[in-house]
Amino acid sequence: MTTRVFSGVQPTGNLHLGNYLGAIVNFVKLQATHECIYCVVDLHAITVPMSVWGGPDELRRNTREVTAAFIAAGIDPKKQIIFNQSQVAGHAELTWVFNCVARLGWLNRMTQFKEKAGKDRENASIGLYDYPVLMASDILLYRATHVPVGEDQKQHLELARDIAQKFNNDFSESIASTGQNEKYFPLPEPVITGPATRVMSLRDGTKKMSKSDPSDYSRINLTDDADAIAQKIRKAKTDPEPLPSEEKGLEARPEADNLVGIYAALSGKPKADVLGEFGGAQFSGFKSNLVDLAVNKLSPIAAEMKRLTQDQAYVDQVLIDGAERANVIATETINAVKDIVGFIRKR
Ligand code: TYM
Repeated sequence: MTTRVFSGVQPTGNLHLGNYLGAIVNFVKLQATHECIYCVVDLHAITVPMSVWGGPDELRRNTREVTAAFIAAGIDPKKQIIFNQSQVAGHAELTWVFNCVARLGWLNRMTQFKEKAGKDRENASIGLYDYPVLMASDILLYRATHVPVGEDQKQHLELARDIAQKFNNDFSESIASTGQNEKYFPLPEPVITGPATRVMSLRDGTKKMSKSDPSDYSRINLTDDADAIAQKIRKAKTDPEPLPSEEKGLEARPEADNLVGIYAALSGKPKADVLGEFGGAQFSGFKSNLVDLAVNKLSPIAAEMKRLTQDQAYVDQVLIDGAERANVIATETINAVKDIVGFIRKR
């Protein structure tokens, strides 16, 4: 079977180094070997309260910003597909069918819902609860086989596999009678690779770097300029010991582990090599090197993002063009699913 890559990023503002190193760097790499579809998941963005996603103007701004980040990071929108989710109706349509395949018990186990809903669960949106089913639809609408994501999305990928498998089993006879392969939906594989699959907060090495942390010093935003990057790295929390020479010396030193992981990911070297170079050094010296590396790697992306976001017509056209191409694949799946489930349609 042919392989296809799909992944998504939410347009909820504050794209940060975790999104970049955990996901977007791998998006860029995979385009050398795979057909790739990258989606700005605006339907997912509105699952949190409007005060959090920011309202219509903010959503438009953030959708264009994520699109600009994809392109600035090196994804070629002509060769690959870049689009925003709401422009392809199939995402919502397939979600309904999958809502009837997925089980309440499966969704009740999702840790991201528990974290995001917090204590006031009664007041969470139904969309937030259904978030993982929509995510499964995103992937399976294109029958994607590989999904590059950060570590935090592993559980959602497992749910997508469970939904694919249950659909294939529940409808096995119908799948066969419509002439489809018995494994109509592939079981998508998570691609969680590199030294920075879980980038931590610069203020607390036990907390994930996140868009929603109230302290801007906890994260490096992709739009930060050189001064901001330097300041945040210099202020990043560390411990009093020099850097170890071997990886096992990073155990129980979450801040050191995080900074070494960031250096490794930005330089494209394994952590062991970074420790070979900096083992025994004090943090002050290591941080100066990390500032230079981060500014070198991230400043051109920030500059290109800025240029692209000023060219709104171009960015919107990329999304429209991407959505048209995505829709061709999506329609094929939706039609097959309608036939498999037994929905009558115009031919
Ligand atoms: P989002 O926008 O929250 O995150 C986008 C990507 O960034 C990764 N990520 C991190 N990686 C490493 N360290 C971190 N601190 C960090 N924070 C975020 C996330 O794992 C993600 O890969 N649910 C998805 C969006 C989505 C999706 C999909 C992904 C919707 N549909 C279908 C794949 C396939 C999410 O977390 O977005």
